[in-house]
Amino acid sequence: MCGISAYIGKNNNAAEIVFNMLSRLEYRGYDSAGIAYIKKGKPAKISVVRDKGMVEDVKEQYIPEHSDLCIGHTRWATHGEPSKINAHPHLDCKQEIAIVHNGIIENYIALKKMLEDEGHKFVSATDSEVLAHLIEKFYDNDNVLTLEDAVRQAIALLRGSYGIAVISSKEEKIVAARLGSPIIVGIGKDENEYFVSSDTNALLPYTNSTIPLNDGEIAILTKNDCKIINKDAILMQKKIEKILYNLQSAEKGEYAHYMLKEIFEQPRVINETMRGRLRIEEGIVMLGGVRMKDEEIRSISRIVFIACGTSLHAGMLGKYLIEEIARIPAEAEYASEFKYKFPVLDKNTLVIAISQSGETADTIASLREARARGANTIGIVNVVGSTIAREAEKGIYVYAGPEIGVASTKAFTAQVTALYLLSLYFGRIRNTISGFALRELVEEFARIPEKVQKILDNANAIKDIADEFYNYRDFLYLGRGYNFPVALEGALKLKEISYIHAEGYPAGEMKHGPIAMIDEGFPTMAVLIKDNVYNKIMSNVEEIKARHGRIAAITTEGDDNVKKILKKDDKVMDIPETLPIFYPFLTVVPLQLFAYFCALKLGKNVDKPRNLAKSVTVE
Ligand code: G6P
Repeated sequence: MCGISAYIGKNNNAAEIVFNMLSRLEYRGYDSAGIAYIKKGKPAKISVVRDKGMVEDVKEQYIPEHSDLCIGHTRWATHGEPSKINAHPHLDCKQEIAIVHNGIIENYIALKKMLEDEGHKFVSATDSEVLAHLIEKFYDNDNVLTLEDAVRQAIALLRGSYGIAVISSKEEKIVAARLGSPIIVGIGKDENEYFVSSDTNALLPYTNSTIPLNDGEIAILTKNDCKIINKDAILMQKKIEKILYNLQSAEKGEYAHYMLKEIFEQPRVINETMRGRLRIEEGIVMLGGVRMKDEEIRSISRIVFIACGTSLHAGMLGKYLIEEIARIPAEAEYASEFKYKFPVLDKNTLVIAISQSGETADTIASLREARARGANTIGIVNVVGSTIAREAEKGIYVYAGPEIGVASTKAFTAQVTALYLLSLYFGRIRNTISGFALRELVEEFARIPEKVQKILDNANAIKDIADEFYNYRDFLYLGRGYNFPVALEGALKLKEISYIHAEGYPAGEMKHGPIAMIDEGFPTMAVLIKDNVYNKIMSNVEEIKARHGRIAAITTEGDDNVKKILKKDDKVMDIPETLPIFYPFLTVVPLQLFAYFCALKLGKNVDKPRNLAKSVTVE
């Protein structure tokens, strides 16, 4: 939800660096972009280049100029339509201060009114512009106030969330601050250049030394110094954190799209999430980040998963797993609903927040609510050092590596891997699963990456099916049991990147409504694998065929019965056999590929679908 970047240092090409960082942040929003840099002279002046459109388009309007200080922004509109005037950076009345903002200023109407009454003139429809004018109000060099003092006073009046970077033509510095939206400071290789970014990916080409800001902290960056203070101007001692992955892992390499690369990375990702945690010979699961006393695990009376989007689908799967394997009652809740419904929680409730980015505002808010109400908390997170990773009491990193495609794929399989590990760990301690059964499961679990690889090796067969189905306007996705969340996830993938309307449904519920929609123009994607509900879903497929609905089905290799009831224009995608509880790994991959190939055929922007953002940092 908007990305911000900034640079100060010895390099005279600050704008170029900031544009480069912005293009790596574009997955966070891409409806408009802009930069502001300081043009030296007497007096020094702020130059702004901004417009509606993607970073690359806006960059074309920039005529290269020497500057060693620059801030930039790529936008996902919340207040005010995408337009040149609403694009960041925003300026104060005197055009001496420029700001970029990620987040929402909830009390901007009241602040705007106050500032207008004081004579400030606004030009945009954004909430963010109030910040530029507020800083202007407090910024007065004659009274020896520094930019950081003015920023500190201004942000004290804000309600909502922000990650900001601010410059003034009167001082050679960048002031950055955060509350709720991520800000990472990057330290240049020889410590006389500094970067600011909404995530670590954008920093990777320049440095792997970072200082992530905590809520309420303010960074003051000059060419040879980096100071972090808190809201009371007290100097904070911060540790430098290293980025653990390399630049190559955040590039798309030989793949046409990040999404395709990320789909193909899944065998490796599942292996890496398991590595060191699954002791196959001993049949043991070890999870260092959630080490708990056996007594504590036995006293859990309920587990609640909170998450959004794809991560919620992983949580729904987690509910099935935890209930079957560890016999603990479980629920999966939309994080956006959880916080506001006065949840009933106690010390025996375990709340598990699942998030790829670790920065989704609704999930963070719900996690905080859970902690405030006395529940125990675990975070299942991909991005190391993110807010959820830091705020949950215990955690499991999923090690999917940077996920750049807006539609989440490998993060889902990594989250699901972590949920299997957790369920097996709890099940063993609670004695709901015998040592023998655990060993059998663990052995099959270890074979999953090679089975996923087999599906990927056959990706062209899925492309052929997509080529037949991409032209429909609607799609019904059916699955049951463990494959119901997979049906939801498959439908979400199709919606997100191809804009085909797709509805995921528990197969057994089809007869209570969706069947009314079925005709030749409304196809169904059925997850029809050999598990305990196979015969039931077969009946659903027969019901659809009786109403002339077209079928695409995911079936288990060697299943000839399905083929008997399907017609020539129906299609099947075969997957290898596994134990019923592991099928979601194998059923979700063809659905991801199917969505990808449909979007490709329709000529859509696969990695940056319209109106979406990878990380939704506003509630
Ligand atoms: C956005 C993304 C989805 C993602 C969801 C939750 O909607 O477009 O791909 O699943 O946020 O994000 P999180 O980072 O919390 O997993």
